[in-house]
Amino acid sequence: MLSIIVAKASNNIIGKDNKLIWHIADDLKRFKKLTTGHTIIMGRKTFESLGRVLPNRYHIVLSRNKDFSIENENVKIIPDISFLDEYIKDNEEHFVIGGASIYKLLMPYVQKMYITEIEKEFEGDTSFPEVNMEEWTITEKEEGPYDEKNEFKYTYVTYERK
Ligand SMILES: NC(=O)c1ccc[n+]([C@@H]2O[C@H](COP(=O)([O-])OP(=O)(O)OC[C@H]3O[C@@H](n4cnc5c(N)ncnc54)[C@H](OP(=O)(O)O)[C@@H]3O)[C@@H](O)[C@H]2O)c1
Repeated sequence: MLSIIVAKASNNIIGKDNKLIWHIADDLKRFKKLTTGHTIIMGRKTFESLGRVLPNRYHIVLSRNKDFSIENENVKIIPDISFLDEYIKDNEEHFVIGGASIYKLLMPYVQKMYITEIEKEFEGDTSFPEVNMEEWTITEKEEGPYDEKNEFKYTYVTYERK
């Protein structure tokens, strides 16, 4: 089973210059809590923007570049989504962590979305794809802490496919 996890601005922006634009400590903590012990699936650019292999998570990285390789037992590079069949069909939760191209590519196979909805517009070059809200039900909604370490207002919203 695939779940998306993303933090997005109110204008759907998710990144700029292959980086995150905001720093929200509580959101990063939540990302770690939700994804630790699970498989995380991402595009090559997002993998590069992480800058390291995240501990206690198996990484699947999509890349068409046959020369792209990472020597790490917790990283697998795949050239297309046919390699994700078992991850789509099983009952375990696997996280699609971005970026924009991979959210769009895998959205049809995703059952759940954990979206951090930031109540502010940002300028950027990468957006979360359009979502047909008729296909989704909100199952959880909770405001995140707003303080000096979390300088924007934001809400954690969980969507499940109807
Ligand atoms: N706010 C958030 O929660 C969040 C989360 C993640 C990322 N981001 C942001 O999103 C941005 C990156 O997103 P992006 O869309 O530019 O890049 P991306 O989706 O991370 O990576 C794109 C790369 O994935 C590979 N790829 C894409 N489709 C493929 C397919 N069908 N088959 C095989 N490989 C495929 C290609 O790699 P090759 O070029 O190697 O072939 C492509 O260049 C950054 O700014 C990042 O900070 C934000």
